[in-house]
Amino acid sequence: MDAGVPAKKAKYENENGTKSTNTDGRALPLYRKDYEDNEGSTSLTFVLPEKIGILAGALKTFEEHKVNLHHIESRPAKDDPKGFEFFVACDNITGGLKEAINDLRKMTTTLTVLSRNPGNDENTEEVPWFPRRMKDLDRFANQILSYGSELDSDHPGFTDPVYRLRRKEFADIAFNYKHGQPIPRVEYTSAEIKTWTTIFRELVSLYPSHACREFNHVFPLLKDNCGFREDNIPQLQDISDFLKDCTGFSLRPVAGLLSSRDFLAGLAFRVFHSTQYIRHSSKPHYTPEPDCCHELLGHVPLFANPSFAQFSQEIGLASLGAPDEYVKKLATLYWFTVEFGLCRQDGRLKAFGAGLLSSFGELQYCLSDKPEVRPFEPTVTCDQEYPITSYQPIYFVADSFDDAKTKLQAFAASIPRKFSVRYNPYTQSVEAINSKKQLVDLSKDIKGDLTLLQDAIAKLE
Ligand SMILES: [Fe+2]
Repeated sequence: MDAGVPAKKAKYENENGTKSTNTDGRALPLYRKDYEDNEGSTSLTFVLPEKIGILAGALKTFEEHKVNLHHIESRPAKDDPKGFEFFVACDNITGGLKEAINDLRKMTTTLTVLSRNPGNDENTEEVPWFPRRMKDLDRFANQILSYGSELDSDHPGFTDPVYRLRRKEFADIAFNYKHGQPIPRVEYTSAEIKTWTTIFRELVSLYPSHACREFNHVFPLLKDNCGFREDNIPQLQDISDFLKDCTGFSLRPVAGLLSSRDFLAGLAFRVFHSTQYIRHSSKPHYTPEPDCCHELLGHVPLFANPSFAQFSQEIGLASLGAPDEYVKKLATLYWFTVEFGLCRQDGRLKAFGAGLLSSFGELQYCLSDKPEVRPFEPTVTCDQEYPITSYQPIYFVADSFDDAKTKLQAFAASIPRKFSVRYNPYTQSVEAINSKKQLVDLSKDIKGDLTLLQDAIAKLE
């Protein structure tokens, strides 16, 4: 339950003023008929016996399953003189309403779902919880799929106890990090800096000829503002502050790989989950997982570009509450753009994907005549298979970030969701647009922007 949504004051008559009676003949107030226009709402009634704390327990069930309550009323129960019947209207778009109902059934023998819209019940089955507020991303910290401080037996650092201890320190930073806190600064060892230096020197020599112009525009700014130097591994907090100023993007430390759904959800809030550790010094040209070289040299520069930032956020917004098969398609689109994307500038191919811009070997290979290149077309690209342990045999070419964003928005519109989502930067929250009131509010915002646009145009004239 969202503590910010107070239960409305009970209102006991329906539209035609009729009342029902309970077993002792007393007139029973009827519940207010409301929320008919809210397609994301499900109503239900349940009876609880008179017992101290039992209602708090029932409400806790909604909270535990992240189900947002819009409205709650009570009245004496029809068939139980000592019991009370509760009417609840709640959000069925996010949270585990089905699980909450299952738990509630253990507390009551009488529970009826009064869905206003038959389609909503289907939705309840399909739509998983997704973060609504930026601080909800704290939930992902302990949901990493692999790595963290545990290394596989074929990891270059597996037999190095010093490296493993170091990885645990980084994992602890990520596990303990909470939204709004400064990201702890790390004093990197001379061995770690040496690894960084090797990679930095090689890549910087290729960027002018191989990276897209947006990347090359930002990179010097990172040197000036965030300590990007060959003898220094930049601090995540300094980078996050810089990105916040440029595009509103920010970094969060993460211990290892997140699921596609969780990782993409971060992008919806313009939050990038970044590792802070560095690969093992024995193999500076190989890492089986993302590390700070990949994140800081590959990803960070373009998050400072407004068009790229918006493109990335669109992928994230499209993923929220999307069915699993579409999250997989979006993860594939992310792979062929944010990780391994190419674009054409001044008639020549350039790299903008982080997997390319952080790999000395693949950055040269991707612009050679060896791989196949195809135009970026989300409806086709989203189903392309790809290897994860070798260079890509196929790359996709975007005309521009804005063009890729427009195509992605069209693709997102085809995702079967019963709501639209919108990011509110003032509250750093995602709103599921699924009611007339929200549409009215949205149209007021657009109207305000149009008025501003007219005013600005008039002043220019
Ligand atoms: Fe990456």
